[in-house]
Parts: sequence; structure tokens; C-alpha cells
Amino acid sequence: MTVAEGTFALTRNTSVIAEPDAEAEARKLATALRGPTGLPLPLTNKEPKPGAIVLQLDRSLESKLGTEGYRLSVTPKRVAISAATEVGLFYGGVTFRQLLPPQVFATKHLTRALDGGWAAPCVEIEDRPRFAWRGLLLDPARHFMPPEFIKKLVDVMAIHKLNTLQLHLTDDQGWRIEIKKHPLLTQLGSVRKESPIHGDRKRGDGNRYGPFFYTQRQIRDLVAYAQARHVTLVPEIEMPGHFLAALVAYPALSCRGGPFEVRTRWGIEPDILCPGNDAALAFVKDVLGEVCELFPGRFIHIGGDEAPRDRWKTCPKCQARLRAEGLKGEAHLQTWFNHRVEEFLAGKGRRLLGWDEILEGGLTPGAAVMSWRGIKGGIAAASAGHDVVMAPTSHCYFDYAQSKSPGEPEYIGGFLPLSRVYEFEPVPTELPESKRRHILGAQGALWTEYMWTPRDVEYFAFPRAAALAEVVWSPAERKDFAGFERRLQNHLLRLDHLGVNYRKESAASDRKQSVVP
Ligand code: ACM
Ligand code: ZN
Repeated sequence: MTVAEGTFALTRNTSVIAEPDAEAEARKLATALRGPTGLPLPLTNKEPKPGAIVLQLDRSLESKLGTEGYRLSVTPKRVAISAATEVGLFYGGVTFRQLLPPQVFATKHLTRALDGGWAAPCVEIEDRPRFAWRGLLLDPARHFMPPEFIKKLVDVMAIHKLNTLQLHLTDDQGWRIEIKKHPLLTQLGSVRKESPIHGDRKRGDGNRYGPFFYTQRQIRDLVAYAQARHVTLVPEIEMPGHFLAALVAYPALSCRGGPFEVRTRWGIEPDILCPGNDAALAFVKDVLGEVCELFPGRFIHIGGDEAPRDRWKTCPKCQARLRAEGLKGEAHLQTWFNHRVEEFLAGKGRRLLGWDEILEGGLTPGAAVMSWRGIKGGIAAASAGHDVVMAPTSHCYFDYAQSKSPGEPEYIGGFLPLSRVYEFEPVPTELPESKRRHILGAQGALWTEYMWTPRDVEYFAFPRAAALAEVVWSPAERKDFAGFERRLQNHLLRLDHLGVNYRKESAASDRKQSVVP
């Protein structure tokens, strides 16, 4: 970036100019600017006149800017955004909005005139992301989050240039996605008798929770909404563990049979899917078939974490499968199962992604790994040529507390201050140079055991997601926490205007305050 003299002012005379191939993005930018400013900002494809914002698609820029980068030029007379792709134009527009006063992120028209007007400083910027996977995970299984909130989260992610939102749609405590072929999944699996009580996780609150789930129509609407903001929704369907809500509806898919109840406490359920049963595999393919129809993205996340394999040890079907397939043990049985799932997904042009436990019985050939139990799994997978998303608890678990101050809300355990998120380096130094391209990026996790409402999610997510956004976008050598903290002060004003319930205490005040054990 180079900064020049002067400013560009948005006025009643400003128009937005684009050829047909850039018109969709031009319209999005004009709409975003019209909301808070109330300016007309007409869209045309006429010759640029003074006071224009010009968007231009130029495929030849790809060699320099990649598929997500952009060039942004702001002069007193003109704003020019160019990129090889629509994504790049979109991000150029986001950066232009960031140059304007923070009120430009207001969700409503501001009636009070701004001191200095809608002015942006003159700059020349060339920008592109360091990583392709810039993600967050949301868990609507433990606590359901309404579709309107997912839209808000997508909006807020997009202005951080985060591009991937993983939805943890199923777990022991709830099944949250409609599957047409197996309607009992939501009829029975989306309701639990009660939940842990606030402040005492061992006791139940006595309140029925649900039915809560997304219909396929809602999912389609969310996918389209996210696509328009260049955010990919990645579905996660947990298997073979964290599968109890499905077993409540279809107990024959477990090793011992039911009956089961949707789990009313957090933690890990010992009853899991039985891979010795052919019907269980057929069932999983039915579910994933519908999931692939709904979610167009390349990756389908199959969970794979925290699957206690004890039931498999005493299950005649599982043991018969082990013998028939010549498998060395239960971990290899999970790998055998993953292999069938991977083949099924590959037949639909999709790739399997799973938590790092899927390494335990040997990775299947096309699997990608999300490394959460530290970075070791990620290193092992990338070293073997598999793609990896880094999401270690140490730097990416946004359900951990942001501060040790006594004012923090209830949380699952663990401590992850803003500064530690910012320090995260997704590419391990021990990874050979030739394997580094397998690190696709990183992802922050918003597990919702202790987040009851969208406001709670926002509190745990922000500002840590802003720190992660910089980690996954900016060159490593440009990292500067003091600079981030300084810029964050202005950024928090944007979040105020967006109505985001971020954690307000600064990292600096946390460092000063005494630490409560
Ligand atoms: C996980 O936190 N069990 C992926
Ligand atoms: Zn079994």
C-alpha cells in the first residue's frame, strides 16, 4: 500500500460503473454503500466521469493477484477496483469500505451528517490472501442458532475476508439438518429432554430443548446467501462418533441396539455407529447424498473425532468385519469405514475432510485433515501429502476464555487471549518446504456448549476472529500485534455499527489487570 495526498468523497454525484461482467459485484458494493449513506450511487456502464467508482474484471491479473486478490486505487477523482475474479472485486470493495468512516458499516441509514463527509484517503493497494481457507466453525448442534444469525455471521465474516464457515450440524445432543429420506432424524433427533443448567454442568435444567433444525429450504437459502458474499458453507456430519441423536431415531445402526435418548449432558457418548452393519453404511450414504445436493462446496466434513471404539470390541458384526477385511484393530476399522465414505464422496466429486483422529488407523488416500489436538496431526498429514486445515485448541478454540478476569462468562475451560490468536503461525517450521502448500489455512472454533444465544457466540468470536483473519490473510513477515491493537480500535467501531456483541475489554487492559487463579 502507498498512501497519497487527498481524499475521495462519496457524494450525490458519485456513480458506480461496471461492464456487464463486473456488474453483479458493482451492484453489491453500491447496495452496501447506499444503506448507511442514503446516497443514490446509480449503477451504469457509461464512460467514467469524475466522482466514479469503477469496477473492472481483468483476467490477466490472476498471475499477480491470484483468484482472490485485487488492486484498489483511490484518487480524489476516482476509485478503481480491478481483479481477475468476482471474489477479488468483492474484497476490493470491502477494503474501500474500510477506508471510509466506520459508520459505513451501519446496518441502517444514518440521518445525522458525518463530520468530514464520506471521505476515503487516497491510496494505491495491491492485496491478496496468504491462505485459501480462512474459516470459522459454528456448532448449532449443542445450541441451535437461527438462520438469520448465520446470515449475520456470514456478513461479518465477509468483511473480515473470512471465506469458509463450517456448520457442525449433528452431534450427540441434536440432529439439526432435515434429511428427506430419513425423517425421524429430525423428528426425534432434534429434541432433547433437557440441557445442562447454567453454572452447574452436571445438573439438568428440566427444560425440553427443540425441535430445532434447518429445513432443506433454509439450507439452500443460506448457501445462496453465503455464496453471494463469497463464503463457502462446509457441512459437518459427525460419524462414527458424536452420532447419538441419529441412533435415537435409528437404534439398529448402533452396535448394541437401543433404545437411546438424545444426550442431555455435554461430553462424549460411548454408543456410536456400527461399521460392521451394512445398513449403517447405506444410511450414511443416504444422508451424505442429500448433504451433497444441498452444499456445493468441494469439502464434506465427516467429523471422525472422539469416537470411543469400545463398543466395536464386543460387537459381533464389527468383529466379523475386522476378520473379513483382515483389519489389524478397531482404529483400522474406522479407517476402513472412512475409505467407503471417501469413495462415495469422490463419486460425487467431493473430498472427505475429518478431524485428526482419522489418522489413527491410517489416512485414506484422498482425505484432508483438520488438526485440532495441536498441530502434530496436521504435520503428519501434510508430510504425507494430504491437505490440512489448522485448528489447534491452543490458538483456534474460541470457546476458551479470552481473559482470566472474574467478569468473564461461563466457558468450557482453557484460556486463549487475543494476543495468542494473533501469534498463531499456521505453517509449522518443522514441515519441509515442499509440503507447505498442503496447509490450506486455519479455522477458529465456536463450540456452543456454553454459548446459548447468538449474542454469546459474538462475544466469544470477536475480536478473536479479527486476529485470525489477519493471520490467514496477511504475509507472516508483516505481523505486528501492536499495530493490530491500534487498528483494532477503529475496527471495533465498525463492529459497533454492525451490532456485533464483541468482548470490549482490550488486550492491553487484560495484561495490566491481576490474574485471578
Ligand atoms: C473437537 O473439538 N472434538 C474436534
Ligand atoms: Zn458394531
